Amino acid sequence: MSEITKKYTNGEVTVVWKPDQCIHSRLCWTQLGEVFNPRNRPWVNMEAASTEKIIDQVSKCPSGALSYYLNNTENPPENISTETRIEVIPNGPLLVYGNINVQLRDGAKENRSKVTAFCRCGQSKNKPFCDGSHIGAGFEDV
Ligand code: FES
Repeated sequence: MSEITKKYTNGEVTVVWKPDQCIHSRLCWTQLGEVFNPRNRPWVNMEAASTEKIIDQVSKCPSGALSYYLNNTENPPENISTETRIEVIPNGPLLVYGNINVQLRDGAKENRSKVTAFCRCGQSKNKPFCDGSHIGAGFEDV
């Protein structure tokens, strides 16, 4: 069975959504609900925020279910940060933004780009990466 992929664009940037990969972190609709609203059809409104805001939010998707590409890569919008950034999600994973190379427990190496979610709760079945298990486990970091 092929994976479902949906695309939404504002002409500048296209958001790609792969629902099968979603771990329901809820970050997209709690942080940028004017664009990502599961109650609406379609659930993504590309006209409700700037391209920069949409890219910033999509970059926080811990599962990779949301990704984006610029429609015109020769003239990318300004203000897109390329610095490596690390963010602790309350009661959730550690997000590392940027291109990284992860050496796994067995010595294998894996290249990751954009954003990678690392498990902090210890419940992931895909360590060291977050698989959304922290939600079912009721993980609290306080
Ligand atoms: S933090 Fe998400 S599975 Fe552990």
